[in-house]
Amino acid sequence: MNLADLNRIALAMVTPGKGLLAADESSGTIKKRFDAIKVDSTEDSRRDYREMLFRSQEAMSKYISGVILYDETIWQNAKDGTPLVKLIEQAGAIPGIKVDEGTQALPNCPGELVTVGLDKLAERLKKYYERGARFAKWRAVIDIGPRIPTQTAVRVNAHALARYAALCQAAQIVPIVEPEVLMDGDHDIDRCYEVTQRVLNRTFQELRVQRVALEGMILKPNMAISGKKCPKQASVQEVAEKTIRLLKSCVPAAVPGIAFLSGGQSDEEATAHLDAMNKIGHLPWRLTFSYGRALQAAPQKAWSGKPDNVPAGQRAFSHRARMNGLASTGNWEAGLEKQAA
Ligand code: 13P
Repeated sequence: MNLADLNRIALAMVTPGKGLLAADESSGTIKKRFDAIKVDSTEDSRRDYREMLFRSQEAMSKYISGVILYDETIWQNAKDGTPLVKLIEQAGAIPGIKVDEGTQALPNCPGELVTVGLDKLAERLKKYYERGARFAKWRAVIDIGPRIPTQTAVRVNAHALARYAALCQAAQIVPIVEPEVLMDGDHDIDRCYEVTQRVLNRTFQELRVQRVALEGMILKPNMAISGKKCPKQASVQEVAEKTIRLLKSCVPAAVPGIAFLSGGQSDEEATAHLDAMNKIGHLPWRLTFSYGRALQAAPQKAWSGKPDNVPAGQRAFSHRARMNGLASTGNWEAGLEKQAA
């Protein structure tokens, strides 16, 4: 492992003013997104949609540091035959790849999941590296409920995340370590805080046990936030303050950067929360975005599968990318949203 190189890539992924585009929806997930805009999900429609994003010159060159791809996409070519990976590189962004193979029911733990995909991962990483991927992603899913998460779910998922991260670094690929605590329930922000703290502590314990170099990884956590169905929704300031307190208590300063998932927050909430944290400042790591839905909902709607709408889709994507780019340095203001509307 060349740690200096891994560290250089990790830092580039969290360049101030830029963040990551999570465009790694599995075929099942992108179908759900396309159903919502009444577009058939085919190999070609998925390619056309993602090509539209990667050819958004303004967004990609100014606000996007890297793109997380799905296996299908990393092997696809644009309509004119250029590999999609090349489009990303030409825009000055770094190609990355989701390498987990989704979740399975965790035995003996009803309702809980474990992320799978470690078998043959070393061989797959080698092929992805040759294709141009310089970072990877693995997402663990932890749900909050009456008696969950169990310690079992927290431990097995942390163990798998660390196994994945160690294999990535051996393949000279920066691992994005993503232990996502879902915001689906009716729990309040303090319960989310407490569960996320347990999950992050266990994750970093496993990373240490498995000798993962913290300087060569990126953490992708959820924010400390109220469950979607909680009657009392925490304010933007409370989310920002509690998330920072939480991260400071669990994430070593050796980690170069933290890139949040949006997890079901509205586009503007995801931007406002990131901005509020960076306005607080004085942080040991760079804080940015690695959003899927919060970057793509608007362009998906504007595009709606029609070639004539490509410029409108690209404008919508560029706008959200710019807003989040500003939030990554604490320079966003709500008024900028209205100007664009
Ligand atoms: P969301 O921002 O839509 O949560 O997606 C980010 C991601 O990559 C989840 O794994």
